Amino acid sequence: MSFYEAKAILITGGTGFIGGEVSRHLTIKYPEKFFVVYDKLEYSSSINNIKGLLKLPNFKFIKGDIQNYDLVLSILEIFKIDTLLNFAAQSHVDLSFKNSLEFTKTNVLGTHVLLEAARKVQVKRFIHVSTDEVYGDIPDDSAKETRTLDPTNPYAFSKAAAELVVKAYIKSFQFPAIITRGNNVYGPRQFPEKVIPKFILRLLHGMKCCIHGKGNARRTYVYISDVADAFDLIIHRGKIHEVYNVGSFEEYTIKELALIVINKIHGVEGEAAETYIEYVKDRLINDQRYSVSTEKLANLGWQAQHDFEQGLEKTIEWYKHEANDWWSEYEYALAAHSAAQYTC
Ligand SMILES: NC(=O)c1ccc[n+]([C@@H]2O[C@H](COP(=O)([O-])OP(=O)(O)OC[C@H]3O[C@@H](n4cnc5c(N)ncnc54)[C@H](O)[C@@H]3O)[C@@H](O)[C@H]2O)c1
Repeated sequence: MSFYEAKAILITGGTGFIGGEVSRHLTIKYPEKFFVVYDKLEYSSSINNIKGLLKLPNFKFIKGDIQNYDLVLSILEIFKIDTLLNFAAQSHVDLSFKNSLEFTKTNVLGTHVLLEAARKVQVKRFIHVSTDEVYGDIPDDSAKETRTLDPTNPYAFSKAAAELVVKAYIKSFQFPAIITRGNNVYGPRQFPEKVIPKFILRLLHGMKCCIHGKGNARRTYVYISDVADAFDLIIHRGKIHEVYNVGSFEEYTIKELALIVINKIHGVEGEAAETYIEYVKDRLINDQRYSVSTEKLANLGWQAQHDFEQGLEKTIEWYKHEANDWWSEYEYALAAHSAAQYTC
């Protein structure tokens, strides 16, 4: 199996949840390589996610928007970037119903800007981070990478549209891109608008878990450090022009998830646990199930190291002790259908 050797890596969205973990993992593991994190510092990000890296000689942080072609191009040139990982995105489904144009601008136009700048300087590898939500509802099987994209909400369509731009660059310019499609990632440092940290923090703040609709929607969850391992592998062993699903088979309904988190925090189950749940109106559209086949990634050599119970316990511990000072503001995100306020 061939091995790709990156020298200078640009990570967009590297002060966010997944980009932050991947930045820490790679910068510390590979001191001989140079890393630039480029991020707009949106509401879901935290500079704390890369604080420990700022003093390292192989690391640089630059604040900026992925839609800024001139700045992106000059960074690629100045730092002689050969490899780009694109994590930057508007990433919250609830917000996408209220502000879908911002999702198109960041996720589609922003990706196009990065591709064009990367094409100009002839990067050797461009890893574009997408989501399992591009497949749409998957009633009973697990989507392979060849499945037709069928997104249903504005977040998912913006991610699918971005993928189409990447695929057209591959076809038109033989551009060296790889696409990843991940299922729900969870773990420490995730902004509390997402379901697991929201349930944990609501319970720790004396509130109930807020369940959209009846809580029958099914999701699968993969632990954050396992995802960082997957990106490490894909950078070095992934084949250009390929798509890789990243995920697990740890599948729960939202109600089952709530009951597990309630049990871990309050130590109750059954009817006693139900008293910690409140049901709220459902999303405008709420895909009932996502599930991906990870056979292709497993064939590269990836295997998750955490089961859900282990990962959840580590995650709860982190939110108990660290979450309060991690973001400048997060309380509003604990609302049942949270959405950051935008002025643009
Ligand atoms: N979290 C998940 O469960 C999950 C699952 C599958 C795929 N993904 C994808 O992984 C990527 C990262 O997700 P995340 O959960 O870490 O999200 P996040 O919201 O925590 O991080 C996104 C980062 O992108 C930055 N950003 C937003 N707009 C920007 C812009 N215009 N220019 C520069 N930076 C910008 C933000 O400041 C933030 O640091 C996204 O592309 C998302 O679609 C996430």
